[in-house]
Amino acid sequence: MEKNVSQQLMSRLINHIMSDSSDECVNSITEPASFFTDTERFEKERQQFFFDTPQLIGFSGTVSELNSFMTVECMGIPIVVTRNGLGELKAFINACSHRGARVAEGKGNKKTMSCGFHGWTYNLDGDLVGIPKENCFDLEKEGKKLESIPIAEVHGLLLVGLSKNITTSTLKNFLSPLDAHLEEFDFSQLENISTRKFNVAANWKLIVSLSHESYHFAKLHGKSLAPVMTSHSVFDEFGWHTRWAFPLKGIEDWAKKPMCDWPKRLPGAISHTLFPGTVIVVNSKDAQIIRVEPGSTAGDSVVYYLGSCAKGDSVEDSLQSYNFGGDIFANEDLPAAEQCHQGLMANGADIIIGRNEPVVQLWHQRWHNALKD
Ligand code: FES
Ligand SMILES: [Fe+2]
Repeated sequence: MEKNVSQQLMSRLINHIMSDSSDECVNSITEPASFFTDTERFEKERQQFFFDTPQLIGFSGTVSELNSFMTVECMGIPIVVTRNGLGELKAFINACSHRGARVAEGKGNKKTMSCGFHGWTYNLDGDLVGIPKENCFDLEKEGKKLESIPIAEVHGLLLVGLSKNITTSTLKNFLSPLDAHLEEFDFSQLENISTRKFNVAANWKLIVSLSHESYHFAKLHGKSLAPVMTSHSVFDEFGWHTRWAFPLKGIEDWAKKPMCDWPKRLPGAISHTLFPGTVIVVNSKDAQIIRVEPGSTAGDSVVYYLGSCAKGDSVEDSLQSYNFGGDIFANEDLPAAEQCHQGLMANGADIIIGRNEPVVQLWHQRWHNALKD
């Protein structure tokens, strides 16, 4: 029987559990504190890694129906994504042509969007179609469309470009190194069910690294995650992106059973990190997205934690796993990142990344290699 991606990962993880090992690097490395605190580097990263790079904003199942819409914020830009009556996917800056207020909130199904301030109305192609007391305005409606931005739907994921030099084909090709590995996860069946937003006093890279190592499970998550998950893990590189997986405790028991009985999805978590650091965590039922954005200074970040549910599945069950992970992230992980940032500002010392933190090492190399002068 041919193993699918999850089962291949499961085999590798079971081997690691049996031999009490993990995928590791050859050496530990160090990184100066300035990597996280330097303002010039921060500004370049913000422009090059976020405004000039495709950004993952959600699951396309949220706008799968004709005449549907959803709203998000990305790098402080309000965005409305629409699926018009012909099934065409579009994205616009969610800012009214009258004075800039939002023309849509949340998600839903409708054919027009009406601004909450004075009621200017737009169709799902972004055309302005209605102005209350229109005779008071000296303008042509045709010239007052919502401003469109590039969007693509790839493997059920929604990618947008925040600068004009990002084309639709750039968006479509962005995930190509992961094509064969994402196909089996039907993200197009997933709908966003909840989003938490955090303002965090730490550099964005310190926060991304929280999702890249299990070394901290035993101590930081000693009473929450560690009782149910092991720290054995495997990783792989796919162009600019990576995959890192770790299992629930007890998966080695599956080794005694024939492969045809193995679950189709890994009992554990498979974290795909898309450059520069947006993480899609796939679990046995659904998936979450952790989106970390640089804030206004090197020591501030905005973090979004998105939960999903497969169409037809129990939203309550999905919310339960979403809240389990979200509470740990909010109460244990994010405060640790804030402590690290404060400590690095105070001591200015190098940080150390161990052999047992290979994905953290990989991403440090990527962030170094990708930054242009
Ligand atoms: S700002 Fe939208 S109608 Fe006035
Ligand atoms: Fe953690």
